[in-house]
Amino acid sequence: MEYRRLGKSGLKVSALSLGSWVTFGKQVDLGDAKELLKYAYDQGINFFDNAEGYEAGESEKIMGDTLAALALPRDTYAVSSKVFWGGEKKMQMGLSAKHVRDACDAALIRLKVDYLDLFYCHRPDIDTPIEETVRAMHNLVQQGKVLYWGTSEWNAQQITEAHAIARAEHLTPPTMEQPQYNLFHRDKVEAEYRPLYENYGMGTTIWSPLASGLLTGKYNDGIPEGSRLTLSGYEWLRDLWETEDGLKKLAKIRQLTELASELDVSLTHLSLAWCLKNPNVSTVILGASKLSQLESNIQSLDVLPTLTDEVIARMEAILENKPAGPERFGQ
Ligand SMILES: NC(=O)c1ccc[n+]([C@@H]2O[C@H](COP(=O)([O-])OP(=O)(O)OC[C@H]3O[C@@H](n4cnc5c(N)ncnc54)[C@H](OP(=O)(O)O)[C@@H]3O)[C@@H](O)[C@H]2O)c1
Repeated sequence: MEYRRLGKSGLKVSALSLGSWVTFGKQVDLGDAKELLKYAYDQGINFFDNAEGYEAGESEKIMGDTLAALALPRDTYAVSSKVFWGGEKKMQMGLSAKHVRDACDAALIRLKVDYLDLFYCHRPDIDTPIEETVRAMHNLVQQGKVLYWGTSEWNAQQITEAHAIARAEHLTPPTMEQPQYNLFHRDKVEAEYRPLYENYGMGTTIWSPLASGLLTGKYNDGIPEGSRLTLSGYEWLRDLWETEDGLKKLAKIRQLTELASELDVSLTHLSLAWCLKNPNVSTVILGASKLSQLESNIQSLDVLPTLTDEVIARMEAILENKPAGPERFGQ
């Protein structure tokens, strides 16, 4: 396993980490979760990602029960939660001081831990002043309930505002962002956030590195039974891929699959290695509904040397989505 600093913080997270969206509480029960987490931990993964909104808290309960059952030493791993979607009622949503506090307390109980290593604002909340949220996060840090707080899918302007407020009011600034990042979703991480890495030392814990599994190539010839796109409650995800844009992406995935096979690697490994290659990525959060997926995906680190300049140029020629501006890897 390779370890990377979470931005400029002192926390060293594994370059590959494990998340629980869609899987824990939906496809993965307690027994399977134990197997997945134990395997991940034994392979050196030290960050486990969660959120209050995942399966309405069930995902956190399963992760909490798993961590407790495995009795992993608390000083050897980091666990996260995210606040935003806590329930149907008005006060259970968003980033008000009240909900930030209540969500943290509830996550601590479900995850069975005394503090959250990482706590994210799961989306921006346009109905709450950013100052209110920064102060609420700062208070949790002061109380020892949270070590590092961050954002997910905020834009650069909102993150910059949070830093300006924190600096002016002597509050704890955000440490990390959790954006979507994969071969088809690049602009934020590669272009928009560039000043934030330089100015604030922002770390990124990136999500859906395989675009929900599309970048494994498993959807190249139709939708396999039991795969994520067939799950009830996630029809919106399937709809996204059945648009004209989605079908164009699938055509590119078929081309990428051919390139991968020419290089003698799997498309899954090539796609994950491509995310890992970006030095502004602190950790790539893997999702896995089966142990065999995790066992395979963890090997993507070995594929990094395959990503030569020439291979990247061939991938760019297929993707045709390179953000304008300086080179993506900071050259
Ligand atoms: N902050 C946010 O807003 C946000 C949003 C989404 C996710 N996240 C975090 O990021 C984590 C990862 O996201 P993700 O689950 O979307 O990641 P992903 O890697 O894009 O998709 C993972 C899914 O792809 C399929 N898959 C993975 N490896 C495979 C393999 N080798 N062969 C065949 N199928 C494979 C599996 O789904 P099936 O087997 O079901 O097909 C698996 O659950 C989440 O768990 C969560 O912690 C955060």
